[in-house]
Amino acid sequence: MLSEKSRPVIEATIGTIAERIPDITPVFYRSMFEARPDLLDGMFSRANQKNGTQPQALAGSIAMFASHLLNHPDSYPDEVLSRVAHKHTSLGLLPDEYPTVHEHLFGAIAADLGDAATPEVVAAWDEVYWLMADALIKIEKGLYAQQANDVMFAPFRLISKEQVAEGVLAFEFEPADETPMTPSVAGQYVSIQVVVEDGLRQPRQFTLVPSDPGHRRIVVREDPQGEVTPILHRDIAVGDVLEISNPYGDVTLDPQFHGPLVLVSAGIGITPVIAFLDQLVREDPEREVLVLHADRSEAAWPGREIVRDYVSKLPNARLVSWLGVPGEGDFDGHMDVSQVEIPQGAEVFMCGPLAFMQSVRSQLVAGGMPGRAIHYEIFGPDLWMLHDEARTA
Ligand code: HEM
Repeated sequence: MLSEKSRPVIEATIGTIAERIPDITPVFYRSMFEARPDLLDGMFSRANQKNGTQPQALAGSIAMFASHLLNHPDSYPDEVLSRVAHKHTSLGLLPDEYPTVHEHLFGAIAADLGDAATPEVVAAWDEVYWLMADALIKIEKGLYAQQANDVMFAPFRLISKEQVAEGVLAFEFEPADETPMTPSVAGQYVSIQVVVEDGLRQPRQFTLVPSDPGHRRIVVREDPQGEVTPILHRDIAVGDVLEISNPYGDVTLDPQFHGPLVLVSAGIGITPVIAFLDQLVREDPEREVLVLHADRSEAAWPGREIVRDYVSKLPNARLVSWLGVPGEGDFDGHMDVSQVEIPQGAEVFMCGPLAFMQSVRSQLVAGGMPGRAIHYEIFGPDLWMLHDEARTA
């Protein structure tokens, strides 16, 4: 809980801090990577630094945390903390790095605010930072304790690589050593490290899709502008060994909820849907499920055969598609959920580009669905979570 001393200071400065974040973050990251270039080797994604999304997400989440403490003094924004902690643990982050971020972030804040960074202001924001850091460290510790091993990454050998749609490959890995594997829950991802052109290791997260027992399988769309997916697509060959983390991620089906499910995806966002459908076929085949997918075309739709196959094994499931090539899907063009009947009392899981998810979410909320019944997985730093609108009604 925020102290009574800090509360009025945070109230008075939160507006300025939130407004200054876009100017503070580049200074913060520049100074941190100058001091600790090793953090760009295997920990931070260079691409997310370049496009600015990660620094914004990190600093923005602290402002969001502060605003939560002001508005709801007795609770923490659990969903946000959970998402961040899962991402951190998938990268092997340890508590002793928290002072690093603190030092460079607060250096940048002090430089930006100038005289306005009085000792009272700095002390109050310090308190917010460490409340959030301690909460994250606690969750991260709990997540590490659940693993079947005590390593952050283990070696896995690529045993197959096959095309599953235009520009989309599936990769299946088997363990390359004796490290015990933590079983994954449908919807979870792993971080995979790839050595890029200049020798640095770059991690990326990929959703796990069903595989043979004891294997890890991912489905990857190549981003020609990206740093990692072209290497996976073009340079990594069967027999190569890559470092893969334990499975993490909290966008998973709630075992206590047995009502209808609506699984919404676009493009490569189909991967968690494939994992959920596999779980439902095995554990809850009678479940009422509506699968909604949007894609550029039938040929571009990854895993279309497997999705149809799963749906055929679920007697109460229905698949509806919106495809860019007229006549190929059930509907043409962009997804419009008013064209289907959404089951009453459903929980929704979405995955796809942010603009797509924002549009579908608005349509669902306009149709009367409570915001809290809508869950989403976002590939890359989540800037949406910084807005209450993404999480609540
Ligand atoms: C990701 C917040 C400390 C390394 C993130 C994200 C947030 C965040 C919001 C984006 C999550 C997502 O949506 O994917 C914080 C906060 C911290 C903190 C509030 C302190 C209180 C640290 C520390 C390190 C670190 C100490 C390591 C030195 C990372 C990395 C990512 C990440 C590597 C992955 C994203 C990427 O590479 O683009 N963090 N973080 N964080 N964080 Fe932290």
